[in-house]
Amino acid sequence: MSKVKITDTTLRDAHQSLIATRLGTDDMLDIVGEMDKVGFHSFEMWGGATFDSAIRFLNEDPWDRITKLKNEAPKTPFQMLLRGQNLVGYKHYPDDIVHKFVEASFDRGIDIFRIFDALNDVRNMEVPIEAIKKVGGHAQGALSYTISPVHTIEYYIKVAEEMAALEIDSICIKDMAGLINPMDSYNLVKSLKENFDLPVCLHSHCTSGMAPTSYFKAIEAGVDIIDTAIGPFSFGTSQPSIETMYAMLENTDYKVNLDIERIYKIANYFKKLKDKYKGLLSEASLSVNTQILHFQIPGGMMSNLVSQLKEQNAENRLDEILLEVPKVRAELGYPPLVTPLSQIVGAQATLNVLSGQRYKLVPNEVKNYVRGLYGRPVAPISKDIQKLIIGDEKVSYEKSPELKKPSYQKFKDEVKDKIKKEEDVISYALFPDIALAFFEARKNQTPKPKIEQRELEKAAPKEIVKSKPTNPLRTNGGMELKSPLPGAIIKIIGEIGKPVKKDSVLFIISAMKMENEVVSPASGVLQKIYVKEGDIVKAGDILATIA
Ligand code: CO
Repeated sequence: MSKVKITDTTLRDAHQSLIATRLGTDDMLDIVGEMDKVGFHSFEMWGGATFDSAIRFLNEDPWDRITKLKNEAPKTPFQMLLRGQNLVGYKHYPDDIVHKFVEASFDRGIDIFRIFDALNDVRNMEVPIEAIKKVGGHAQGALSYTISPVHTIEYYIKVAEEMAALEIDSICIKDMAGLINPMDSYNLVKSLKENFDLPVCLHSHCTSGMAPTSYFKAIEAGVDIIDTAIGPFSFGTSQPSIETMYAMLENTDYKVNLDIERIYKIANYFKKLKDKYKGLLSEASLSVNTQILHFQIPGGMMSNLVSQLKEQNAENRLDEILLEVPKVRAELGYPPLVTPLSQIVGAQATLNVLSGQRYKLVPNEVKNYVRGLYGRPVAPISKDIQKLIIGDEKVSYEKSPELKKPSYQKFKDEVKDKIKKEEDVISYALFPDIALAFFEARKNQTPKPKIEQRELEKAAPKEIVKSKPTNPLRTNGGMELKSPLPGAIIKIIGEIGKPVKKDSVLFIISAMKMENEVVSPASGVLQKIYVKEGDIVKAGDILATIA
C-alpha cells in the first residue's frame, strides 16, 4: 500500500483563500525551518496571487521570498502555481517571457511547477512545460475541475493524454471551487491511475464541505498526493487541515508519515498569525457555503454577485440572476467558473437580467472570450448567441503570432535605469504599472500605506463595455439619452452646446467592475446634461438630451 504524500499549501493557497494573500515573507521566515522538518512532500509557497500581492500590497520583492525561505528550509521541495501562458498574471505573455520567468523561478529555488489553464486548453500549457523541462524542473500538469454535462471522466482522460504527450511528471486534479464529490473523486483518480504511469495529486477546497471525504475516497483509489493546510489556515474556503487528514488515516493502511507532534507546535504559531490578520477574515471564507451545491456557483463568485447587486440596488433580482448563470454558462460552452471566467459569466448573466434583454449589453471580455482570445471553449458556443455577441466576426483559436516575437530586450530597455537585478525586468513585463511603483518605493525606501480590502477591489482590472444606445425618445425638441444600466458616472465626455456624432461616446458608467460606454443615439448638438461625474444612476435615468 503506497503511502499518500502531503503537499502543504499554508504559504500559498491557504492564505490566498482566507486572508487575500496577505502573509508576508517575515510572517513565514520564523516558522518555515520547523515546517521543513515535518516531512511534507512539498510546500506550495509561490504563484497564484502571491506575486501580485507582494509587489502590489506588501511592498516586498516576490523573488526574494523564494531565496529567503529556501535558506531556512532547504530540504522540502518548493512548489508554485503557474497559470499556463498567463504565468502569475491575467493575460497571455510572450514565449520568451515565459522562458525567462521559469528559468528565474527555478534558479531561485522552485522545484515543482503546477501548470493549469482555466479552459483546459493544453496549448496554453505547452510553452511553460517546455521551459520547465528545459531547466530540469518537475512539471505537474493540472486538470481544472468543474461539473457540467461535458466534463466527464472521458473528457478529463483526453485532456490528461494531451498533457502526458508533453511529458509532464505528474497530474493534478485541481478542484478550485471544492465541487468534487467522494465517488467522482474515487472514479477520476482510479481512471487516471489506470491510464497513466504518473503520480496523481488531488487539490480541493472545503467550500462545499466535501473535501475531506473526497480526499479519503481519492486515497482509497490510489491517489499519490493530497493538498492540505495547517489547522488555523484550513477549512472554510481553504484546504482540509493536515491534522484532520492525519487523524482520519491513523490506524488504517494509509497512515500518513509525518511528524504530527511538530505540526501541533507549528499550528500554534499560525494561530497567532491568524489573529494578527483577523480583520481580513470574513464569515463567508470561514464557513461552508451550501449554495455552491444548490446553484453550482463557487463561493467567491456568489459573494461577488451579491455585492455587485447591492451596488446597483438590485438585490431583489438575485434569484433571477442565479437562474440565468447556468444558462449563460451553457451557451458559452460550459467554462469552469474560475477567474476570469466566473467574472465573465456572472457579469453577462447580471446584464442579461438587469437590461431586460439578453445579450443587449455585452462587456468586451465576453466578446474576447467568444472571439477565442481565452482559448478553445470546452463545448461549442451556441451559434445564435455568438451572432448576438460578435455578429459575423471571425473566431480564431490560433495562438497570436505576437506571442512568439522576442520581447524581453524591449522590456529591459524600458526599465534599464530602474532595475537592480535581472528579475526586475520580468516583474515589469508582468505588471508594468505596479512594478514601476514598486521600484520607485524601493528607491525611496517609503513603506506603502496599508491597503484596505476596498482598494483591492478597485485595483481589479477594468474592461471597457460598449453599449448599444437605448431607444431614444423625443421631448422638448431634444432626444433623450437614457442610462442603459445602473452604475456610477465616472466620466462625461460630451460638452453642452457642442455637436455630437451618432455612436460617439458621451458617458462612461462604471458597473460590476467594468466600464460601460454610453454612446449618442443620433447626430446633433448636446443640448443638456442631467448628471455629473460621480453621480449614481439607475437604468432608464435620463443622462442628456440631444437636439
Ligand atoms: Co486552490
